[in-house]
Amino acid sequence: MRHHESGHEPPLLPGRGRDLTGRTPFPTRVGLWKPQPSSATRSPVFPFTPPTLLAPMWGVLSPELGELWASYGPVGLVCGSFVRVTAAETGDDWIRSHVVRRAGRPVSVQLMGGDAGRMAHAAGVLSAAGADVIDVNLGCPARQVVRKGAGAALLREPDQLRELLLRVRDQTTGLLSVKLRAGWASTQGMVEIGRSIEACGVDFVTLHPRSRREMYDGVADWRLVGELARSLRVPVVGNGDCWYATDALELQRASSCAAVMIGRPALRNPWIFRQLDELARGSPPYAPSGADVVTHLTAVADQLERSLGTTRRGPLGPLKEHVAWLLRALPNGHEPMQRALRAPSLRQVLVAVARDLGSLPPAALDLDAHGAFRLERTPALSSDP
Ligand SMILES: Cc1cc2nc3c(=O)[nH]c(=O)nc-3n(C[C@H](O)[C@H](O)[C@H](O)COP(=O)(O)O)c2cc1C
Repeated sequence: MRHHESGHEPPLLPGRGRDLTGRTPFPTRVGLWKPQPSSATRSPVFPFTPPTLLAPMWGVLSPELGELWASYGPVGLVCGSFVRVTAAETGDDWIRSHVVRRAGRPVSVQLMGGDAGRMAHAAGVLSAAGADVIDVNLGCPARQVVRKGAGAALLREPDQLRELLLRVRDQTTGLLSVKLRAGWASTQGMVEIGRSIEACGVDFVTLHPRSRREMYDGVADWRLVGELARSLRVPVVGNGDCWYATDALELQRASSCAAVMIGRPALRNPWIFRQLDELARGSPPYAPSGADVVTHLTAVADQLERSLGTTRRGPLGPLKEHVAWLLRALPNGHEPMQRALRAPSLRQVLVAVARDLGSLPPAALDLDAHGAFRLERTPALSSDP
């Protein structure tokens, strides 16, 4: 049985889950969501269950913090590690240090760079160190990145991209994925780019359906996810603006994508994966309270103190970034946000948040699975491809 049609607990696979590399078995369950074949002849199934991914968010979500998120609800793949492949930084020990195995979890490391040789070398080092997934960044729109021919800039250079992916594939012993935007200046060539990427032997493709030019304007065009999913044989992961758990289900339903990746919405609502799991089971989805927010931020502060306490950057700015995401879920949250962001220490940030949110019931927050206040702008639900 592939899927629990009736809302029952899905069965554990007998034995271990799919051992992708021959080295690192991890337990898995048959998909929580029904795999949606994109045609009668093929059935691209995302290789991890449940078919959800926590998006890479460099500078905000470290692998350690990713673990905290994954402790709230099941996440198929936590994309926490990131290696910028430049001439200066890419000593092998430094590359290897990004493969940190956590019990029972696949390790995914994203590579960003434009030099095929260096990228392939890094992929080989990571593979030898046991990375289960190597993801190539084809989406970063930042000017300082694209100027160096990396991230979304590769979408403009099909020959260079092909060479890079073929060489990285050659050195990758686990799964190879790419994470791309739908194009550079427009989204018109998306399917062609996707097919060319697929021909290089990638195992799955994650699409953020905005062009590079759009940066984060407007809303993600989920129809593009459907278009790509119908055009490729490999699983396509949809990503973008799933601000509420029900949005992620809607994206998957409307596009038949194999899995959904969630980024900023998970910073705003760290319980979104739990809610997705509960919705998929037919259980009432969790509605976090103000106390949950305080407990979460306390755990984030502890982790940031441990990892950044002795660095020049320090943990205070990063904590405030998390506060700013979470407090977006508070209707009329401007004043509380200002109070927390003005606080001069970790402890005082937490005290300010506890004062303003600590006793709020779930109904006072826009953190439920459906979005009681719908404070965020989500793609139109009419986005059926
Ligand atoms: C602070 C931040 C850092 C990000 N870092 C990365 C990154 O390192 N690699 C990457 O592929 N995408 C990165 N992204 C893009 C996200 O992974 C994701 O594609 C994007 O936020 C859209 O998805 P969302 O609407 O679910 O947030 C980043 C996004 C943000 C907001």
